[in-house]
Amino acid sequence: MSTKIGVMDSGAGGLTILKSIQKNLPNIESIYFADQAHAPYGAKSDSFIVDRLLVVADFFKSQGCCVMVVACNTATVAGIQTLRAKTDLPIIGVEPAVKPACRRSSRKRVSVLATEGTSKSLRLNELIETWRFDTEVQVLASKYLASLIDEMPSALSVAEQEIVRVSTIVKEHQSDALVLACTHYPLIKNMFEVALPGVEIVEPSEGVTAQVRRILLSQGHALSDDFLDDANVAIFTNGAVGFQKSLSYWSQDIEAKNICFVDI
Ligand code: DGL
Repeated sequence: MSTKIGVMDSGAGGLTILKSIQKNLPNIESIYFADQAHAPYGAKSDSFIVDRLLVVADFFKSQGCCVMVVACNTATVAGIQTLRAKTDLPIIGVEPAVKPACRRSSRKRVSVLATEGTSKSLRLNELIETWRFDTEVQVLASKYLASLIDEMPSALSVAEQEIVRVSTIVKEHQSDALVLACTHYPLIKNMFEVALPGVEIVEPSEGVTAQVRRILLSQGHALSDDFLDDANVAIFTNGAVGFQKSLSYWSQDIEAKNICFVDI
């Protein structure tokens, strides 16, 4: 029997983490769940997000997953501690890559782009205070970018306008590193690279993948570079058809089975 993990997000964003896991740990099976019926998470209350995380954890357990990856910054800062206390499934979260960005910035000026929830969170502020030392860290929130990415490709031109708005502020701050602190944003990393030449775009997928590897090895799972014979990702959503289209758009380069609807 193969090793199976569950990866979740409010929408397509966690696919950026899933892609890295699939590339680096090809012999494990993954289940991806997009909570699109409740997206976006950005301005939702912590208690709402915790309730959703518990439902998804039960779903992953029923599917035989041995690890749950909360591939969402907003859900991690809002609920990972309560989730860990209430489930026996090992939980891996995703945190803004403030530490590597502050280390790599030679100008010592960094911008962090997040959802409203993450931007106001105590956890983000703690991370910044812990790792910034002499770096000036600017935090920016985007109300709509995650939702626009979930509506791609039709929302492309509005997303471009939002990137122009954000990039102008990052340039004014003279940052040479931009932390993408929402897992949706790396899906359009190329658009940030074009808008912000010379600015390093920092995202967390490799760190999360390394943590998945560590936990699976500690559980005694055998990891290898061999690909499984069958497609090793199953994608589930509770979202309406329009959302499902966007999920197929963003999962084109993932070897996945069909996208399935699940009513949770
Ligand atoms: N992908 C998410 C994050 O990392 C959630 C975005 C949202 O639903 O607002 O924050």
